[in-house]
Amino acid sequence: MRIYDLIMKKRDGYALTAEEINFLVTGYLRSDVSDAQMAAWLMAVYFNGMTLEETVELTLCMVHSGQVLDLSSIPGTKVDKHSTGGVGDKTTLILMPLLAAAGIPVVKMSGRSLGYTGGTLDKLESIPGFSTNLSPAEMIEQVKRIGIAIAGQTDSLVPADKKIYALRDLTATVECIPLIAASVMSKKIAAGADAIVLDVKSGSGAFMQTGTAAGELARTMVQIGEQAGKRTVAVITDMDQPLGCAIGNAIEVREAIETLNGGGPRDLVELVTVLGGISLVLGGKAERREQGEEMVRQLLTNGAAAAKFRELVRDQGGDESVVADPSRLAIAPAARTVNSVSSGYVTRLDALTIARAETALGAGRGAATATPDLSVGIYLLEKIGDAITSGEPLAKIHALDESSAQIAARLVSDAYVIGTAHTDHRPLVSEVIGTPDPE
Ligand code: URA
Repeated sequence: MRIYDLIMKKRDGYALTAEEINFLVTGYLRSDVSDAQMAAWLMAVYFNGMTLEETVELTLCMVHSGQVLDLSSIPGTKVDKHSTGGVGDKTTLILMPLLAAAGIPVVKMSGRSLGYTGGTLDKLESIPGFSTNLSPAEMIEQVKRIGIAIAGQTDSLVPADKKIYALRDLTATVECIPLIAASVMSKKIAAGADAIVLDVKSGSGAFMQTGTAAGELARTMVQIGEQAGKRTVAVITDMDQPLGCAIGNAIEVREAIETLNGGGPRDLVELVTVLGGISLVLGGKAERREQGEEMVRQLLTNGAAAAKFRELVRDQGGDESVVADPSRLAIAPAARTVNSVSSGYVTRLDALTIARAETALGAGRGAATATPDLSVGIYLLEKIGDAITSGEPLAKIHALDESSAQIAARLVSDAYVIGTAHTDHRPLVSEVIGTPDPE
C-alpha cells in the first residue's frame, strides 16, 4: 500500500477501505506519513467528503491510537455530554452534578477552549483551590466515592486526533463535517461512557452557522456513536445569541451556582432541563423524557444538584463556601454599563460579537499558551425578545482596565439590535436527533 495512492483515491472521489484508513492514521502517528501527505489527504476529504463507513473507521482508528478508559469497575450506566461550544455555555457545571445527584456516575473529561471563550476547566479553576488535574485512576476512585469527577483530558487519550487537529488548524481543514464528527466522537468514545448526549450549537457564535450544517454534523455523530455501541442522542440548540446572561469565567460559575440553587436564566434552565431529561432516560433513571425533565426541575429546586456540586468542589480541593455564597468568587467590578440608545425590543444579540468583546476583556484564549483572566466578563441584562427603553442598561462590563472596558463596551453595543416590532423569545432547542423520544 502506498500513501500516494490513498491521497489520489480520495482526491478522485473514491472511498477508502478500513485497512487503508488504518494505514494512513497509524502511519501518520509514527511519522511514516509526512505532514504534507496528511494535509493533502485532509484537503481531499474537505472537498470530497467521506462516507459514513469511512467516518466511523477514521473515528475508531483514532480511538485506538491511545488509551481507552475502562469504566467497567464503576457500577451503573455512565452518561457523558459534549457541547460543540458556544458563548456563555456553562451547562456542564450544572448538568453533570445534577446527573450525579440522580445516581448517574459522571466521569467528565473537559477541555480548555482555544477560541474566544474560556473552557469548562478555566471556569472551574476560578473557584479558589479547585484542581482539574486528576489522573484517570484518580477520577475513577473519586466517582466511586462521590459519583462525579471533572478533569482535563489526559494526553494519552486519542493522540491521533491531537496530531491531526493541529495539522487541520494550520491547513484550513477544520471546518469539515466528517472530520469534526470523527474528532469529537473519538474523544467521547475513548472517554469510556456508555451513552453520549451531544449539544450541537447552531448560529453566529457556533462552529456550525446554520441549522442545516448543525443537523448534518449531529446526525453523523449520532450514527458514529450508535455504530460504536454507545447510545447517542443529539440536540440542536440556538447559538445566535449567547446562552444565559453571564459571559466569562468566574461570572459564569456564579450563574451556574444560581441555577443549581433553583434560579438562573430561562434559556439556561431550559437547556439543562432538555439535556437532563434525555440523559436521565439514557442513564436508566427515567422512562421518558417528560419524566426525566420533571426530575431535573426537582433536583434543581430541592438542593440535591447544588449539594452534589458542593461535594465535587470540596473533593477537588476547591473552596466549597462559594456554593452557598457565590459572591465569594473573584469577579472584577462592573467598569461600564452599556445603555440602549433607543426604545423597542431586542431583535438581535449577536453571539460572535459578544465573544469578541469577551476576548477583548481577556477572558478567552488567543493562543494555546495564553492564560485567560478568570475575573473579567460581561453580564447581559436583556436578551432577544425583551422590551427596552432608551437610556436603560443593556449589559454590564466587568473589566480590569479602562481601555479593554471601552473596546468591550463598543462591541457589546454593536451586538445589540433594537427594533420596534415585538419579537418573540427565541426557541432554544430546534431538533432532537436519535432516541429517546425525538420530537
Ligand atoms: N472540536 C473538536 O474536538 N474537533 C473538531 O474537529 C472541531 C471542534
